[in-house]
Amino acid sequence: MTATISDTLLDWYDAHARALPWRNAPGAPPPNDDAWPYRVWLSEVMLQQTTVAAVKPYFEKFTRIWPTVFDLAGASDEDVMAAWAGLGYYSRARNLVKCARVVAQMGGFPETEAELLKLPGLGAYTAAAIASIAFGQRAVVVDANVERVVSRLFNIEEPLPGSRKAIREKTDTITPEVRAGDFAQSMMDIGSQICTSKAPRCLLCPLSDVCEGRAAGEPERLPVKPAKKAKPERRGTAFWIEREERVWLVKRPGTGMLGGMRSLPDDGWSARSNGCDAAPLEGEMTSLGAVRHTFTHAHLTLELVRIDGAAVPSGEGEWWPLSEIEAAGLPTLFAKAARLALA
Ligand code: ADE
Repeated sequence: MTATISDTLLDWYDAHARALPWRNAPGAPPPNDDAWPYRVWLSEVMLQQTTVAAVKPYFEKFTRIWPTVFDLAGASDEDVMAAWAGLGYYSRARNLVKCARVVAQMGGFPETEAELLKLPGLGAYTAAAIASIAFGQRAVVVDANVERVVSRLFNIEEPLPGSRKAIREKTDTITPEVRAGDFAQSMMDIGSQICTSKAPRCLLCPLSDVCEGRAAGEPERLPVKPAKKAKPERRGTAFWIEREERVWLVKRPGTGMLGGMRSLPDDGWSARSNGCDAAPLEGEMTSLGAVRHTFTHAHLTLELVRIDGAAVPSGEGEWWPLSEIEAAGLPTLFAKAARLALA
């Protein structure tokens, strides 16, 4: 049975694998090329909490600008953060540069799961994915797609996150010694194309005959998830200060919300649950409207206030040409606000 599941999945993958820019052909050994583990690592970091469709253009941009981990290690934090703008979860970009520098110092990526796990920003999932996909090692790869497929395949009724241990153990029992990377990616493809959260397409699934969840009658019920907490509503204010066809942009401090990203000055909404109106300088204030944005942990309504007058902002920042606002690398929230101001 164990062999059958992985063989079935690998046969299915040979015929149906999605062609993705970071992938090798099914069954081909990992290329002996320094850029290969770099591409696998980069794609796996980008794909965390992010769809394949959203990642593709970013992956192509990054590998065009920085074709190797050594190129990325030599890039400035600012350039990497700006190139990442729009992809979200910006701590990934901060860790990406850190990790690239460590890897470049080491002369390349380590090849074992245990060594990969020591790199900055690499968790259990990413280390296992790189070990198996980039280096052909057997590793147990569990992401949200795999959790769903395995919960259904073995009819695991226990709710997440308590069921994670059982899911991992079951995944371990079906992971093959060879082609573990293809196996992991076949599970991801089944999870995203067939064994979908809602309305799974069991008739197309190569595992439907052995799927215990399907046999029990309601595979779409699994995995059982804890009730979602309602996201809190936050309010904040951002400021549009324009002089001579340029707008005042600042760099967000530290490692907090959108830390390290270029943005419009604001009232510090991200540090509190309720915004206030502490403007960065004196002047006539006009509301330009508001933009809405949803983060993982909250919904935000950000009011945009234009400040006119002669005063010049103090503190660090730069006058960015309006005609080049697209190149500023603003995260989506502030890109929306800039579009509102310029509409
Ligand atoms: N999601 C995360 N990693 C992936 C991969 N290698 N292929 C497809 N989807 C993924």
